[in-house]
Amino acid sequence: MTPDIFPLVAGNWKMNGERDKLDQLALMAQGVDEELADNVDVVVCPPSTLLYVATTLSEDTGLQVGAQDCHNEASGAHTGDISAEMIKDCLADYCIVGHSERRVDHGESDFHVAGKAQACWRAELTAIICIGETEAEYDAGKAEDVLSRQIAMSVPEGATEDDTIIAYEPVWAIGTGKTPSPDDVKAIHAFIREELAQKFGGHGERMRILYGGSVKPANAAELLSVENVDGALVGGASLKAEDFLAICDVYRKL
Ligand code: 13P
Repeated sequence: MTPDIFPLVAGNWKMNGERDKLDQLALMAQGVDEELADNVDVVVCPPSTLLYVATTLSEDTGLQVGAQDCHNEASGAHTGDISAEMIKDCLADYCIVGHSERRVDHGESDFHVAGKAQACWRAELTAIICIGETEAEYDAGKAEDVLSRQIAMSVPEGATEDDTIIAYEPVWAIGTGKTPSPDDVKAIHAFIREELAQKFGGHGERMRILYGGSVKPANAAELLSVENVDGALVGGASLKAEDFLAICDVYRKL
């Protein structure tokens, strides 16, 4: 947590979820009651095939909806891609960009990621920009260098706390059940905060920094109470309403 920063928990369903998972989404929408929504922003990012039905199901509830990626252009000859404008047209409010799975599977560079973040702003979506070192980079003691480069190159000039969220996801912690210790999370989030403050001044001091990588109900309270951890980006544990809501519920008590 950071004083005066309103936290956010986002669930990234990745390439999971056919229509039969919409009952989980409906349960999430039911679970985000007024008390919870007063304490934390709760966002679910289903696959784009379910985006519009997700915003329809969560209409007039506290649950918010985001997409998992977008193209940098508004429209055109880009078979299979979706634009930030299309996501906005589905009534979603957020879009994840630069997830390590996109960086690896689709060869997305920092430059691509920055273009996608700008596309989000153009469409009035909040960009959730992911950064994080690989296991090899971590073992080589290069985590800070990697994060510093990613912040410099993937987060465009002019980013503010209103249009941008940073998600720190150490690649070695994604889907592995491994997490950094709370002390390590504290140190790395403090480093990210410093870099953001240097680049964006007061906006960097107020920008939300999420932690992602094997967040579960069992470790959420410990991770989310760390200084400069302003929420979580949750993968596997966001597919079940019960688990996802249990993670969000940490903010009823923090
Ligand atoms: P897991 O929570 O499954 O480790 O995934 C984290 C993630 O990549 C969220 O974007």
